[in-house]
Amino acid sequence: MSEPPGSSVSQHARHNRALWTTYAAEYAEKAPRQWAAEEITWGIWNIPESRVGVLGEVAGLDAIELGCGTAYFSSWLARRGARPVGVDVTPAQLSTARAMQRRFGIEFPLVEASAEDVPLRDGLFDLALSEYGASIWCDPYRWIPEASRLLRTEGRLIFLCNSSIMMLTGDELGRVGDRLRRDYFGMHRFEWPDDHSVEFHLGYGDWLRVLRANGFVLEELIELQAPPGAVPPLEYIPPGWAERWPSEEIWGARKTAP
Ligand SMILES: C[S@@+](CC[C@H](N)C(=O)[O-])C[C@H]1O[C@@H](n2cnc3c(N)ncnc32)[C@H](O)[C@@H]1O
Repeated sequence: MSEPPGSSVSQHARHNRALWTTYAAEYAEKAPRQWAAEEITWGIWNIPESRVGVLGEVAGLDAIELGCGTAYFSSWLARRGARPVGVDVTPAQLSTARAMQRRFGIEFPLVEASAEDVPLRDGLFDLALSEYGASIWCDPYRWIPEASRLLRTEGRLIFLCNSSIMMLTGDELGRVGDRLRRDYFGMHRFEWPDDHSVEFHLGYGDWLRVLRANGFVLEELIELQAPPGAVPPLEYIPPGWAERWPSEEIWGARKTAP
C-alpha cells in the first residue's frame, strides 16, 4: 500500500489530537473488553449489529476506519474476514490499538493521519466506516470527500454520529433536554466551552447535500433508540431521554459516481 507523504492536519484536528492524548488512558482501559467482545455493537447504547443490520457481509472487503481510536471496530471487522486499515490522528490511541493487536493476535495496518487528509491512494477500499471518529471530529466538508476518494465505485460509507435532534436540544455544555435550544440553520462547527474540543454536526439536508455532492447515494438513516430503562453512560443525557428521541444515528451511503 503506497502512502503519499505530506498529509495535512487542520487546526481543529491538532487541537482535538492534544485532547485525545489526554483521554487516551481512559480509552486504553476500556479497549481489552471492547476487543474481546464477540458481538459487533453500535454506539453508547451498545445496540447489536444483529438488530441494526447495516453492515451486511464484510468478509473479503477492504475496509478503512476513519478515526479508529483503539481500533476495536476494525478488530471486529478483521475477525469477520475483512481487511481493515485504521486511521487516527492521535498517536496515543494508536499505541493502544497496537498493544491490543499484539494481545489479541489480530494484525492490520494503522495509519497516523487526519481523516480529513489521508495519505493513501484513491479507490483502495470497499467500505469506509466511522463510529464517533471522523463522523463527529472532522469537518464533513473535508472528510466526506476523503471517504469518497478512498472508496471504489459501489463502495459503502457507514458512519455513526450524534443525531441532529440531540445537538439542537443541547445547552452550551451539550446537556440535552426537551426543548430546542440551538438554531438548526447553519449548524456545523461546535466548540465546547469547557475543553474547547471542536466537533462537527450537520442538519439532515446538509448531510444529504454533502453526500450527494461527493458521489454518494443515501441508502440508510437508522435512528438508534436506547433500550428501555438503559442507564445513560454519559452525564449529559438524562435517563429516558434517548428512549423518546434518537441520541445517535447511523448513515449508510453508496458511492455510485467514480
Ligand atoms: C471516540 S474515538 C472513536 C473510536 C471508537 N469508535 C470509540 O468510540 O472509542 C474518537 C477518535 O477520533 C480521533 N480523531 C479526532 N480527530 C481526528 C481526525 N481529524 N482524524 C482522525 N482521527 C481523529 C481521536 O484521536 C479518537 O481516537
